[in-house]
Amino acid sequence: MKEEKAIEILSQMISEDRLKHTLGVRDTAIKLAKIHSVDQEKARWAALLHDCAKGIPNNILLKKAEEFAIVIDDIYKKVPALLHGPVGAEIAKNKFRIEDEEILRAISCHTLGSEEMSQLDKVIFLADFIEPNRNCEAIETLREKVKGESLDKGVRMACENTIRYNLTLGRIIHPQTILTRNSLI
Ligand SMILES: [Fe+2]
Ligand SMILES: [Fe+2]
Repeated sequence: MKEEKAIEILSQMISEDRLKHTLGVRDTAIKLAKIHSVDQEKARWAALLHDCAKGIPNNILLKKAEEFAIVIDDIYKKVPALLHGPVGAEIAKNKFRIEDEEILRAISCHTLGSEEMSQLDKVIFLADFIEPNRNCEAIETLREKVKGESLDKGVRMACENTIRYNLTLGRIIHPQTILTRNSLI
């Protein structure tokens, strides 16, 4: 599939703001991939499709996760939006005809990470965090800090940011975020 076609399909699936974020993630992911010697085309496609399931309502996300045989833990049940990564990977495969397992994996783990992230996984995870359209003080600081740092350090800082943010708001923290963070120490 051509990139323009994918963007056209995406624009029917996600909001205008989400599409803007997606294009920011694409550009940032390609830059990070270049700096860290990661396949730039894989980074492009994983970034383009990482949030393709973000516009799906919670009840449908749960239904789709079940259809795709994704393991739905208790936290997913409470916060179904967290399923947009794994469900998005299935949509990338079925609807956008992405067959590359590395791309699909990067889409799947872009929100929670994993203990065994590939360099591509880390590029997408981090790009999602620091793309230029995301604006808040904490992200600004993170964006500055990750410059010149390793991908590992960047992903770890992003996890710590998420943990802090969820604590401040009194929100649930998925244990995978903590496992991902610990695996990088
Ligand atoms: Fe996402
Ligand atoms: Fe995103």
